[in-house]
Amino acid sequence: MARILILNGPNLNLLGTREPEVYGTETLADIQSLCEKTAQPLGLTVDFRQSNHEGDIVSAIHEVVKGGFAGIIINAGAYTHTSVAILDALLAVKVPVVEVHLSNIFRREEFRHHSFVSTAARGVICGFGSQGYALALQTFVKKG
Ligand code: DQA
Repeated sequence: MARILILNGPNLNLLGTREPEVYGTETLADIQSLCEKTAQPLGLTVDFRQSNHEGDIVSAIHEVVKGGFAGIIINAGAYTHTSVAILDALLAVKVPVVEVHLSNIFRREEFRHHSFVSTAARGVICGFGSQGYALALQTFVKKG
């Protein structure tokens, strides 16, 4: 079974109460359970993590090679717009990356329109809430 590393960045641990008008009322635990339920019939397993610390996210990305992960799904939160370190880590490990955002970052403030993560990503899914994580998992299913 292919293993997928799902990384969540700063403040995503506050989902449920954090700006519900932007992010909805689902908690990160709800999203984790959606990912686990979605992954199983697709023949995937997930390792779902969250950190508020940039270095922890960089170190988690480094683990993909030793951990034998087939890909990364990442919602880097605000680090999306600031972190060259996360971009460099994603470029270094050379596994397929799918970038996810709950909100449509292009409908929001201009500083959210640029993503460092996108430079390393195979694709980006934003604006579909937690469903974006489920869609991202489907992109790792081998066809044919
Ligand atoms: C976010 C969008 C980012 O701009 C923001 O800083 C977040 C969450 C999203 O999922 O919509 O923390 O990544």
